[in-house]
Amino acid sequence: MSQHTVKDLLALAPSGQEVEIKAWVRTFRSNRFIALSDGTTINTIQAVVDFENMSEELLKRVTTGAAVCVKGKLEASQGKGQSSEIQVSGLEILGDSDPEVYPLQPKKHSLDFLREKAHLRFRTNTFGAVFRLRHGMSYAIHKYFNERGFFNMHTPIITASDAEGAGEMFQVTTLDLKNPPKNEAGEINYSEDFFGKETNLTVSGQLEAEMAALALRKVYTFGPTFRAENSNTSRHLAEFWMIEPEVAFADLTDNMDLIEDFLQYLVKYALDNYRDDLEFLAQREAQEEKGKPEAERKAMGLIERLEFVANHKFERLTYTEAIDILRNSKPFKKKKFKYPVEWGTDLQSEHERYLVEKHFEKPVILTDYPASFKAFYMRLNDDQKTVAAMDVLFPGVGEITGGSQREERLDVLKRRCEAMGIEEEHVWWYLESRMFGTCQHAGFGLGFERLIMFVTGMGNIRDVIPFPRTPQNCEF
Ligand code: 4AD
Ligand code: MG
Repeated sequence: MSQHTVKDLLALAPSGQEVEIKAWVRTFRSNRFIALSDGTTINTIQAVVDFENMSEELLKRVTTGAAVCVKGKLEASQGKGQSSEIQVSGLEILGDSDPEVYPLQPKKHSLDFLREKAHLRFRTNTFGAVFRLRHGMSYAIHKYFNERGFFNMHTPIITASDAEGAGEMFQVTTLDLKNPPKNEAGEINYSEDFFGKETNLTVSGQLEAEMAALALRKVYTFGPTFRAENSNTSRHLAEFWMIEPEVAFADLTDNMDLIEDFLQYLVKYALDNYRDDLEFLAQREAQEEKGKPEAERKAMGLIERLEFVANHKFERLTYTEAIDILRNSKPFKKKKFKYPVEWGTDLQSEHERYLVEKHFEKPVILTDYPASFKAFYMRLNDDQKTVAAMDVLFPGVGEITGGSQREERLDVLKRRCEAMGIEEEHVWWYLESRMFGTCQHAGFGLGFERLIMFVTGMGNIRDVIPFPRTPQNCEF
């Protein structure tokens, strides 16, 4: 007799066949009905015990969280809501779970509480659904690119370059912090460090991905990135995953077409392949929404939102047009925005949310930002003031993607480096790619956890990564 999973048992036609399953107890009711779960699906299978023929000692050990092995016949279910159940003939406890101390009770726990129990939260319905979907999206990303001729590149995690110029990086060193070697000027002598220079964890694989795209045409990275920014928000992690495609012979319009098609594909993939989990998450969200004041409630339910995004074109407009819309908006006129709206300053999340959630009520691609606050590698537009940048803004999530057409002209790139205080010797290899067969190319970075937030409807980024790293928090 082979071992089954909950998922495949639920798919079998019940005909009294003998089955065996190892799983965990979710609930045990009336000394008779055990709901078994094993993570293969959001659903449980019911095992029915004949308590008169079972030892009381054994049944006492059937508690929430216990691991069990159940044998019996698969029969059509008498109860409502399930098609089949196991009539138990054999029950073995594989691992006890003491109900006096097990932190997860068969009731609803708050997400805050579960964050403190991140080692156990996988066992809840919500996190089971989130992490099955996270896997599904990861698979769909590789599938999408593979089917379109992209090559996956593993770009380095330890780096000596600062791609975004943000300066908020985690240093990597083997120097003795208590007694580091110093040079004559009294500064730390990094030539004695492991790599002979100062190194950090990467904030992006883009610059290296560009090198690969300039030979393999279409590539993408999908790896961890690290940012030491002290942003304690529901959308920032210190360690997160990013997908960065890079395409040769492509311009900003090609880049916008790619991100729109890619995101719609991913959302459709979730709808087509993770329906049970999405329905559970949608119900969960709907219940939470009920507790909120009318004005704060979301306009659409989770599944409606996903269907809407999958089936509607994204709005495309320039930064300059967005500034006009914002300056003519009610919240601007009534001085409701906390941050100024002025051409030349970056948009804050309150402005992005207004555009996406109030003005357009759909995903927005903003392009052509002022060069002054964008990275050195973005292509300078003919107006000499703006760059061929694009940010994709999503409802409830804000910025989900940032990208651009890249500056392929060596002289312009060198001028941008100079203006931004980037020393040529630090990016010599990047500059050299513009000396030999330089060409138009473009790419973007999709924040994986921001995507998962959108797809699952979870409101806090800490709840879509197994073990979140945020300022002052690196437990587990
Ligand atoms: O906009 P960013 O900083 O762009 C880049 O890193 C470029 N090198 C991408 C490229 O063109 N290849 O980051 C890209 C995306 C953001 O839009 C956001 O979704 C996500 O990464 N992101 C974060 N996600 C979670 N926590 C953080 N601290 C994040 N910072 C950025
Ligand atoms: Mg960005």
